[in-house]
Amino acid sequence: MKNEIWKENCHMYVDGFVVNGGKRLKGKARISGSKNAALPILAGTLIAKGEYILENVPELKDIRTMFKLLENLGLEIEKLDENTYKVLNKGLKSSEAKYDLVKTMRASFLVMGPILANLKNAKVSLPGGCAIGARPVNYHLKGFEALGCKIKIEHGYVEAEADELIGTGIYLDFPSVGATENIVMAAVKAKGKTVIENAAQEPEIEDLCNFLNSMGAKIEGIGTSRLEIEGVEELIPGRYRIIPDRIEAGTFIVASVLMDGDIEIEDVKMEHLESFKLKLEEMGVKFEENNGNLKIKAKLSELKPIKVKTMPYPGYPTDLQAQLMVLLSAINGVSEIKETIFENRFMHVSELNRMGANIEVDGNTAVINGKAEFSGAEVMASDLRAGASMVLAALLAQGETIINRIYHIDRGYEKLEDKLKKLGADIKREKLEVV
Ligand code: EPZ
Repeated sequence: MKNEIWKENCHMYVDGFVVNGGKRLKGKARISGSKNAALPILAGTLIAKGEYILENVPELKDIRTMFKLLENLGLEIEKLDENTYKVLNKGLKSSEAKYDLVKTMRASFLVMGPILANLKNAKVSLPGGCAIGARPVNYHLKGFEALGCKIKIEHGYVEAEADELIGTGIYLDFPSVGATENIVMAAVKAKGKTVIENAAQEPEIEDLCNFLNSMGAKIEGIGTSRLEIEGVEELIPGRYRIIPDRIEAGTFIVASVLMDGDIEIEDVKMEHLESFKLKLEEMGVKFEENNGNLKIKAKLSELKPIKVKTMPYPGYPTDLQAQLMVLLSAINGVSEIKETIFENRFMHVSELNRMGANIEVDGNTAVINGKAEFSGAEVMASDLRAGASMVLAALLAQGETIINRIYHIDRGYEKLEDKLKKLGADIKREKLEVV
């Protein structure tokens, strides 16, 4: 399999999607394991020696990056079968996570808490900003400091060390997902109890805490904004199954509504998508759940406009903002989306407007004038979820759409084009020349 960038006669080629829209979607789509649960859980295998068997691990670019990082730190990764991996921790051979890997994936910073829990010192490259925002890690570092670490930032790296990690009370100024995960992992083997107030409550954090508790950690208040972590001497690795990806599920639900689909979505936990479901029901969408499978009933022409504000869980997820924007563009009436989590997460708007949407942005508010006639165009993905929104618009659009820079999409969607093709979409992955 040639790498993403393919050179021939000095021409550069990268993968892109070519989509011919207007095809009704029909059939079954199985939701993969959650990227945003698998990443911190994989980082968690750095905490204690032993053999971990992880099931439902999605085959994604970001997961492969995390594997490389873990191998650099001394772990052994073995694929047992599709989506099941054995991670062997025979002791860390390094406490340093280098720039060349961290620069490609911010979530690499999630190794800092686990390394500290294991070795009481860690050196991790500071993640830079990304397309959707500056994304500093000050809350993470504040938590490590509270646990007794001395922190030094030098040459683009954060160094933290402590003679001992001591449990304490930590208040998060904002319920940051990453900071909550990193602090929990640093605290599971600390002396005494740590209490995190205003902790993030995302299902991915619940999954991480359940994984740690399955190894003997003592975490209470899981799923609430107050996490209590009683430090333990030892953790005993074992087998764990990762939750389904709620953001992938939300993306397929929007595809079904957009394309008047007759889709059965398999292995979805709708309790993880409550706010999303309530907003779509407000528009007039009907959901039929049955044993982890889902059918959606909706008539695009009858759906009503809404106002949405992205919020930390259980509020409306920012990772389903771009996808919803396509749906709101296709229905009658004027809708509004306020993005409150990331300061620069409307990069998809100009591309959707090039495809025929009529969206106006003013600061962190987008006004979506509906009844857009999407037409195929050549567009560029700026980040993972922006890319997903362009695939959705392309499914609905008249004619051919070419989506560039789909490496963003490959970071978070497992075999997206195969799953859509199976539902009847006309989508192909092709080598597109880099112009
Ligand atoms: C996680 O990112 C997810 N990534 C993101 O999903 C998701 O958008 C985000 O949570 C919010 O739900 C993973 O789980 C790997 P945060 P994270 O810390 O942990 C600010 C996707 O599409 N902040 O909750 O980085 C930050 O700048 C990705 O799959 C600080 O200021 O999110 C942001 O504005 C994109 N200081 C806000 O908080 C800090 O120390 C939320 O960030 C930490 C965060």
